[in-house]
Amino acid sequence: MAKRPIEPFRIKVTEPISLPSREERDKCINEAGYNVFRIKAKDIFVDLLTDSGTGAMSQKQWAGIMIGDESYAGGRNWFHFERTIKDIFQKNFVLPCHQGRVAENIFFSTVLRKGDYVPNNTHFDTTRANTMHKGGIAVDLPCAELDDEKSDFPFKGNFDTDGLRALIEKVGPDSIPVVIITLTNNSAGGLPVSMANIAEVRQICDQYGLLLFFDAARFAENAYFIKKYEAGFENSTIREIAQRMGAYADGVMMSAKKDGLANMGGFLAVNDEKLAGRLKELLILIEGFPTYGGLNGRDLEAIAIGLEEALEEDYLAYRTGQIRYFGEILQEVGCPIITPTGGHAIFIDAGRFLPHIEPVRFPGQSLTVELYRRGGIRGVEIGSLMFGGVDPNTGDVLSPKREMVRLAVPRRMYTCSHLEYVADIMAEVVRDKDKLCGYEIIHEPTFLRHFTCTMKELAGKPAGVVSER
Ligand code: F0G
Repeated sequence: MAKRPIEPFRIKVTEPISLPSREERDKCINEAGYNVFRIKAKDIFVDLLTDSGTGAMSQKQWAGIMIGDESYAGGRNWFHFERTIKDIFQKNFVLPCHQGRVAENIFFSTVLRKGDYVPNNTHFDTTRANTMHKGGIAVDLPCAELDDEKSDFPFKGNFDTDGLRALIEKVGPDSIPVVIITLTNNSAGGLPVSMANIAEVRQICDQYGLLLFFDAARFAENAYFIKKYEAGFENSTIREIAQRMGAYADGVMMSAKKDGLANMGGFLAVNDEKLAGRLKELLILIEGFPTYGGLNGRDLEAIAIGLEEALEEDYLAYRTGQIRYFGEILQEVGCPIITPTGGHAIFIDAGRFLPHIEPVRFPGQSLTVELYRRGGIRGVEIGSLMFGGVDPNTGDVLSPKREMVRLAVPRRMYTCSHLEYVADIMAEVVRDKDKLCGYEIIHEPTFLRHFTCTMKELAGKPAGVVSER
């Protein structure tokens, strides 16, 4: 039996949730064009769509909200925010913005030229889309261990450093404006990157004179895994590990909606004054004055406090323990997941789970729809729907390596009983999985199609039997 982690907090404020009837759920998913992004949140029972901006804030953060200083320039919360980020990431200049993809937009608009290559251990969807939107070519270079299902190597989020060298030799360093390490590697299972791997990427960047940036959305979870699994870090604090990681990078882009433990926010932090100046110009143009950058003073305060709380070891032990527990109970009911489990989500191997549905018919989407129908659970497809289609720049047909469904766990929000409920529903889906059918897209936009596209089922009838619930 899997071991439950205990929440290192007690609940002071509650938010009601309820399960719509099966009939209502069928109606909702149908009206949403079989796209769970289009369902109203009130019609979801357990929402595992994302861990981004969905977590619960602490009493200290809520208290911080009350000391928000909404001055247009130089508000007090800005200085707290700036000081905290400079210290954790060891950077000289901080630029606030309202979420991670704005940091990406500002950064790529500033450094990228058309036709440039951007290597990343694995791009997150907005990072990829922002690169492509500016005419860049996003190259994923995950390590080889990631594809070895039997390997329990803890740092499957690592960068393929041989692949990076090969790419640089092939296209030349001049067409690579930046190398990005995503911490943890969200699209590759939320798995961490080791300090040794970060150091090696740094060394390669130094050799070729390349900039190294982190996409640091889940840096604290990454640091915890380093402490737990990488020799030499057992006695370091999470802050020390984060600082050491940060010191390897020339800059950081971060969505504060994950390990910032906040509901909104993001930032860029860099060492180079000239680069900071160029980034600031665009920041002012599209986000706001550099001491608030599209955020309220109170948001800056909540993020500054959240970043500190995300470094607490008992919190991280619980956080990663809850994800591990969730993975174990899903496996116990026969659901194939990517292992080892990472820091923020369970990734179900939908290709293996539903081998009768071809990737072009979106097996991950089929499972996502079924989880909603059966239990009002919202996950997200990470496979051919999210990462397939046609590259708008090159016209290439894209096909991801894996068909997955991600069940992301918001921070400090759901208890283990919510997760056990999901495992119970999954047991029903496992029983009837052969009845699930494929999907076809009816309408799609050019970029990030999974957010807004509509689909239709390829079988006449909804799969599965009507649940008791
Ligand atoms: N980078 C990574 C690794 C992310 O996971 C995300 C967002 C972003 C950048 C963009 O940040 O949402 O603040 O603009 N990930 C969310 C997710 C949406 O569900 O994984 P944002």
